[in-house]
Amino acid sequence: MGNLVLDGVDVVELGRELGTPLYITSRSRLEENIREYRKYFKNADIYYAVKANNNLAIMKIISSRGLGADVFSDGELYLALMGGFKREKILFNGNSKSTEDIVSGIEAGVRFSVDSIDELHAISEIAEEEVEMAFRINPDVSPETHPKIATGLKESKFGIPWEMAERAYEKALKTDHIVPAGIHCHIGSQILSPDPFIEALEKMFDLAIRVEKLGIELDFLDMGGGIGIQYSEEEKAPELKEFSERILDTYEDRLGDLKSEPNLILEPGRSIVGNTTFLLTKVNAVKRAFRNFVAVDAGFNLLMRPAMYGSYHRVVVANRVDETPSETYTIVGPICETGDVLAYDRMLPEVRRGDYVAILDTGAYGFSMSSQYNGRRRCAEVLVDNGRWWIIRERESYADLVGRQIIPPGI
Ligand code: LLP
Repeated sequence: MGNLVLDGVDVVELGRELGTPLYITSRSRLEENIREYRKYFKNADIYYAVKANNNLAIMKIISSRGLGADVFSDGELYLALMGGFKREKILFNGNSKSTEDIVSGIEAGVRFSVDSIDELHAISEIAEEEVEMAFRINPDVSPETHPKIATGLKESKFGIPWEMAERAYEKALKTDHIVPAGIHCHIGSQILSPDPFIEALEKMFDLAIRVEKLGIELDFLDMGGGIGIQYSEEEKAPELKEFSERILDTYEDRLGDLKSEPNLILEPGRSIVGNTTFLLTKVNAVKRAFRNFVAVDAGFNLLMRPAMYGSYHRVVVANRVDETPSETYTIVGPICETGDVLAYDRMLPEVRRGDYVAILDTGAYGFSMSSQYNGRRRCAEVLVDNGRWWIIRERESYADLVGRQIIPPGI
């Protein structure tokens, strides 16, 4: 009976010692992903998308390698600063920024990606000194991904419509405290081909030429995140090298069209942390019914992706890795909803109560999208590193379920 090993650590032993569910992240995979980005996008600035995974230990590793951060709320800004990111390398994104969001961004001294003219005016009114910004533009590019994570289509809620972008920069120039310094776009997530990125980048350059004619000096062109990873056995693993060659070729080609020399920024989330992590679960019951159901102790409370997007994650019976698959199983969670399915119809070795099932590639949008639904406490997170391990987030307590609730007098 073989056990699954991650970064030199037997994850089944870890599950026995610490209890499950457990998010287990490999430091060496994380370092490798960062190294790849630094190697292939040498002269670009990489701003890690904090929303993918905002664990402080993980962010500390990322920030210490010189990456910046894309944040989407005042809370993410707070987390990013705690995670060691430098304010000069933080871009405050978001399509619905509250006054509180804006104040916190201004106080921290970060740059803004502005999503509407309303927001432009709000920042201008709140700011007392100059604030550098880019508009998030909506380039109307189809990224060929799940509709819920396609963001650069014209019907999406994000960004200034492409045809209105130039006018927006004209307005920015006339607005107090606002210094237009860049152009931002993000077309979607889990994109497996470089083509849509090239299309968006070409459009950004077309706009950049017109923006420069307004007298604006461009300091950066931020093409967002979205490079996909391999989730299923059949899927081809996207090669970062191929993406970088195509993107950098276009970038360098088109740079000659501009007077300024804007830095290229990318905002990867998934491709930095996605494949670093297993969600380790324990089997509470195996039930032969309409399907062979394997009920484990984590569901969409801890991993929302399959229920929300129908997304596919590989599944391994962690304490039987060398046994031959013999039956088809559907992995379900403990949540009181029919949709609480982590994986449909997978060929696995015979599964029994007490076995451990690992859900792979859960480092991005796993824990960060978790909830306490059904009174389920959020689980612990562990970092494994060359045979050693550290708890990097403790499991929540019952007191955390009560949290900040207050019972008014007389009840
Ligand atoms: N920049 C901006 C402005 C974004 O909105 C996002 C992701 C990123 C960068 C990072 O994209 P990435 O490199 O991770 O694809 N919860 C979904 C993904 C939502 C992505 C939201 N925005 C999922 O689990 O697939």
